[in-house]
Amino acid sequence: MSFTVHVAQSDISFSCAAGTTILDAAKAAGYDMPYSCRTGICGSCKGRIVEGDVEAPASMEGISREERESGCTLFCQAKPVSDVQIAPRSISKLDPNAHKLVKAKVYRVTRAADDVSLLQLRFPAGTKIKFKAGQYLQVLLEDGARRSFSMANPPQQSDGVQLHIRHLAGGRFSSYLESGANAGDIVSLEMAFGDFYLREDSDKPIVFVASGTGFAPIKSILEDVFKRKLTTRSMVLYWGGRRSKDLYLSELAAQWAQSQPNFSFVPVLSEPEDGWTGRTGFVHHAVMQDLPSLLGHEIYACGVPAMINAARRDFVDKCGLPTDAFFCDAFVSTDTAVSG
Ligand SMILES: Cc1cc2nc3c(=O)[nH]c(=O)nc-3n(C[C@H](O)[C@H](O)[C@H](O)COP(=O)(O)OP(=O)(O)OC[C@H]3O[C@@H](n4cnc5c(N)ncnc54)[C@H](O)[C@@H]3O)c2cc1C
Ligand code: FES
Repeated sequence: MSFTVHVAQSDISFSCAAGTTILDAAKAAGYDMPYSCRTGICGSCKGRIVEGDVEAPASMEGISREERESGCTLFCQAKPVSDVQIAPRSISKLDPNAHKLVKAKVYRVTRAADDVSLLQLRFPAGTKIKFKAGQYLQVLLEDGARRSFSMANPPQQSDGVQLHIRHLAGGRFSSYLESGANAGDIVSLEMAFGDFYLREDSDKPIVFVASGTGFAPIKSILEDVFKRKLTTRSMVLYWGGRRSKDLYLSELAAQWAQSQPNFSFVPVLSEPEDGWTGRTGFVHHAVMQDLPSLLGHEIYACGVPAMINAARRDFVDKCGLPTDAFFCDAFVSTDTAVSG
């Protein structure tokens, strides 16, 4: 059995088999809608059901109860149980050239912390690939499995990419880096994906919140902002880790705070070593202590799903942040995400 999905205020319709999510059906029909984690956490795929009914998990981190009650859903989770009319944030024909496959060469691997490697990849001579600061790529493993990593370099450096990769016990790609990556190795990639990029049509002050390697796409966004001198908005980065070594490029962030107008940096440790005189606790709590009202701000948060979920919930419920002013990428592990 299948249902028809019609996109409100457009002539777009596509078929969705029973048990298939609206996002998957849209992709299969050749349409591109916003998404990132595909696990109901990040909220990137949020939109409205204008007519008809869908089934979705009882609880989804990426959407509040109020939003669900007002007819919103997450299209990566929602499966029609009747013909439906939907209003996604955007929809367009999939551009066959939007994502490029490339065989990149390992140029350098450096260890930034016990459990973080910085991987520098170069594209073949003459190849440059466009992306937006904050987006991510997928590494294609030999058996076709994929792993997502965010570009840490700004888009002006388009002849290669820098990735910040956290080592996970038994992780397939991170173990390769830990044990065997050599300069000259070939890594197959597809890029670029994702909606975690700076909304430049706003002049609201920005709070960036990172945990661990969630710093990578924020570095890309900030370096792009600094290169293009988009520094009239006030910007602050809160970067959280357990110990100071987890903030593996904190000196770079501190240098930006010295040299860039309207930018400041707040490192936050949850398990500080002796002698640490900076902020302590959960990184999003430090934001709330400094900015009890977030009405009028935009948040760009990136890192582990637990931090993303707690930050969104507390910023909205306790600090008055409008739900549409929270942008995020949740670093969901491939075990829980759907590949493709
Ligand atoms: C849009 C997006 C962007 C991402 N960008 C980055 C990035 O820039 N840098 C980065 O480091 N990661 C990033 N991630 C997360 C990364 O894609 C996954 O962690 C991926 O699974 C790592 O691949 P792997 O081959 O190293 O490990 P896998 O072979 O996928 O194995 C992961 C294993 O680690 C376990 N695991 C998962 N989380 C943890 C944890 N917190 N502690 C211990 N074990 C755990 C899993 O259960 C699984 O067994 C991103 C994810 C998404 C969705
Ligand atoms: S919640 Fe649907 S893509 Fe993340």
